[in-house]
This record gives sequence, C-alpha cells and structure tokens, in this order.
Amino acid sequence: MLLEHYVKKILQARVYEVAKETPLSAARFLSKRTHNQIMIKREDLQPVYSFKLRGAYNKMAQLTEEEKAQGVITASAGNHAQGLALAAKHMGVKAIIIMPRITPEIKVQAVRARGAKVVLKGDAFNEALEHALKLVDEQGMTYIPPYDDADVIAGQGTVGMEILRQHPQDLHAIFVPVGGGGLIAGIAAYVKYLRPEIKIIGVEAEDSACLQAALAADARVVLEQVGIFAEGVAVAQIGEEPFKVCRHYVDEVITVNTDEICAAVKDIFEDTRAVSEPSGALSLAGLKKYIEREQIQGQNLVCINSGANTNFDRLQHIAERTELGEKREAILAVTIPERPGSFKNFCKVIGKRMVTEFNYRYAHPEEAHIYVGVSVKPDGDDRNELIHALQEAGYPVMDLTDNELAKLHIRHLGGGRTQGAYHEEVYRFEFPERPGALLNFLNHLGHNWNISLFHYRNHGAAYGRVLVGLQVPAKDKKDVEVYLDKISYRYWRETKNPAYQLFLCEPKLDLA
Ligand SMILES: Cc1ncc(COP(=O)(O)O)c(C=O)c1O
Repeated sequence: MLLEHYVKKILQARVYEVAKETPLSAARFLSKRTHNQIMIKREDLQPVYSFKLRGAYNKMAQLTEEEKAQGVITASAGNHAQGLALAAKHMGVKAIIIMPRITPEIKVQAVRARGAKVVLKGDAFNEALEHALKLVDEQGMTYIPPYDDADVIAGQGTVGMEILRQHPQDLHAIFVPVGGGGLIAGIAAYVKYLRPEIKIIGVEAEDSACLQAALAADARVVLEQVGIFAEGVAVAQIGEEPFKVCRHYVDEVITVNTDEICAAVKDIFEDTRAVSEPSGALSLAGLKKYIEREQIQGQNLVCINSGANTNFDRLQHIAERTELGEKREAILAVTIPERPGSFKNFCKVIGKRMVTEFNYRYAHPEEAHIYVGVSVKPDGDDRNELIHALQEAGYPVMDLTDNELAKLHIRHLGGGRTQGAYHEEVYRFEFPERPGALLNFLNHLGHNWNISLFHYRNHGAAYGRVLVGLQVPAKDKKDVEVYLDKISYRYWRETKNPAYQLFLCEPKLDLA
C-alpha cells in the first residue's frame, strides 16, 4: 500500500516545469577499472546544480492558490534553499529563506540571486528553524520542509523513475546518498514497486550515519554529534516520513570516510569533468566500497551525482586527500640516523616510487624523524612491501596513512618540535567555519592555560580545523576536558597520538 501510494504520487509529481530529466552517463574509466558497468545519474546538471529542486517544486505545486498567495518559507543554508528559491521564482510566489547568521556569504548571494528574500537569524540551524516556524504562525506562510514530507519525497522519487526508464535492462543496485532520507525514500518506493530485485543501497558519511543507526535500532535515533565534511548530508536524525519507506525498502547502508569521498570526487571528475560537492560524490564512494567487498564483476550499477555546489577554495583540500582515499599514497614516519649520507640511503630504499611529500627538521643529535608521503599501488601490498623494505634496511617505520592528526596538521607543521613546553596537552578541534570563527574559538578557549601550539588552516570548507597545545599543570589535568566540553565543538585528545610524539612534542615529555 505504501509503495503504491508513493508510485502514484511520483507518477503525478510536477517537476519538469522547472527541473530537467538529467542524463544517466556511463563512467567509462571507472567501469574499466572495476570491471563493472557504472552509470552516474547527473543531478549536478539541474538548474540549481542539485536534485533538491524536484522535491521543493512538487511540494509547492500542491499548494492552493490561497496558500501560494501567502508565500512559502524554509530554514536552510544548503541546496534546499536554492531549490526552493528557484521553484518559488518560477511560480511567482514570495519566498523567505531563513539562514543562520553564520552562513557563508556565497550561499546567501546564491539564494538572493534566485529572487528569494534571505533573513539571517540565530547562530545555529535550530534557531533559524524556530524563527521560520514562528513566521508560519504569524504570517500564514507555508513551510516547505527539505525531506520530511510525502510531496517532497515524491518529487525526489522522479529520479528513480528516470533511472528505470533510462536503463530498462538488468540493474544490480542503485546507490543513493542519504541526509534526511527524502531522496532515498522516493527512489526506493518507485524502484521496489516495479523492480524489487534491484538493490537500493544508502550511502552515508561515517560520522553522520543516521539511517544506518535507525535501521540497527529499528527506530529513529538522534546522533549526538554529526560530522560536517559532506554538509549536504549532515543530518542527525532520519526524517520520520522517509523512515517509513526506508525501514522496509532499503537493502543496506554503506558508510564511507572523508578520504573515500574525496577519491570519488576525483573519479567523477575524471569520467565526466564535473566537480561534485562531497555529498554529490558520496554514493559513488559507497558503490566502490561495495564492489570491493562483494568482489562483483560485470554488473550494472548506478550512483547519483546529487550536487555540485562546492566552494572553489575547498578543492585544494579535496585534491590533497584523494590519493589517500584511493590508497595510492602511504604516509609514513621513518626514523633515520642523523648523519651525513643517511638521507641518501633512505631514498635508495624508496627506489623508483614517487615521493609526494617530505618533511624533516633537525630535532635530535642521533636520530631524525621523517614525515614522508610515497605513491603506492592501491592494492595494499605495495604499501606493506615498502614498509617491510624500510624495516629490513634498519629504519623504524610507523604507518600514519590512517592517522587524522598526521594528515590534517602534522604535514603542515613538520619539524615543529619544541623545547620547554612542559606539561603539554594536545587537542584537535572541528568547529563551524564563519567570519570571525577563529577569533570566537580563541575567545572560548580563554586564558586558563598557556597555548604552546596552534595550527589552523582554512580549507575553504564549512568548518575549521585547529590543533591546540595547552600547558596544563598536573593538578589541572582533570579539569581540561570539563572546560573543553563547555565550548561544545567536537574535539579529540591527541597527546598520545604517535604522530604528535614523533614530530611535535618534546622528546622527554611525561605522558602520564
Ligand atoms: C548534494 C546532496 N546530496 C544528497 C542530499 C541528501 O538528501 P536527503 O536529505 O533527501 O537524504 C542532499 C540534501 O540536501 C544534498 O544537498
């Protein structure tokens, strides 16, 4: 009944007055590399560079003339805001978008350019949402939700309808990015009704996997914290209406990490020349992981490039991590003797492999710690062979390829060892990026303890990353995290991280 209800709604959905039927493009390089037939649904080619227009327009198309006359409203800083703004412009309906004050100017401008009125309100999304709901009450405007609504889901479901029409042959699975679940619910409802043998596989970022958590608990759960690298899908709880469909019709959820998402951005670029945003490449990252896990060959697989609204400045960071995501780069800490000729000997062991990065600074009279990136073949054996060869040659080696502290900070801080920063405690933070964010962060940090290390690098992303060293006398140690919890940014204690110990900390630091 549920599926039939949705299939009818999807067949009647009004989206094509403003959205396009996007192509299902063959990903030739990737297909060849993985021995499968991979196709990418090009939702990045929509007029607002994401599929969100479909749901927003269909929802608006169901409004009465009276409701339209009152106007529509939503709270969003993302693709939904742009989708709604364009849908409203097309229908000649007044639209107000409430955005948190922290929203980057570029997004505010993009929505204004589509003719919507932007109101900046509150520091966090929830405050913006509260304000939007208040205006609904006071001014009788209609709230257009980003995913938790049957008409929005039906609009997104037209993506599934097009896929089946464009590829009527055998299809093993469709991989769908999941935020609040509107897109996957629409696609699953349509596809499972007509072609139940096709697997519907959700893909989530591993630090915002709210659908996976809900499926495991068989109830919607609220994630305590949500990673924001793929901001389009950074949702703490799966939508109520989407979950009604997902709990029965989604076959499984695969989670992927930041490096895997970045690698998928590159894959999409190589096959289509499109630059997707992280959320847009998410489903391809999951598709690749599935092929690797299942060792399948010769299957037809579809993923969705769901959006391309990326900030140009972010590309540097994405590019930096693609090789790691492809497992084509090994990051190693190698200890070599501090004497003439030893660097050359070390390079001999590396041999013809390409060195992607090299950081070294004198720290100790007898030994040198080198931070080195080396290109390796992606199968994992090559990395192990390299490590083995270095060990055979007598060099202690530590594999840092999966060490976030090393990849985010140490590579830009190589040789920053210190003398005399006693009792140093090191913490890594992630906080929402906005003008003045760094200053705000410093204000929060206060003056309780001396700051002995600070590293911040703007990735042009929606969030900032900071590494901080604090000199905390032993008697205060227990208080530090009580204090840091109050700042309410995500953080990790890194004092015992071997990358920190090798490259930054004082050699004889007491780590108790
Ligand atoms: C680019 C992109 N991909 C995927 C999603 C996830 O969609 P949903 O919230 O319907 O699961 C979004 C949501 O805004 C998005 O902007």
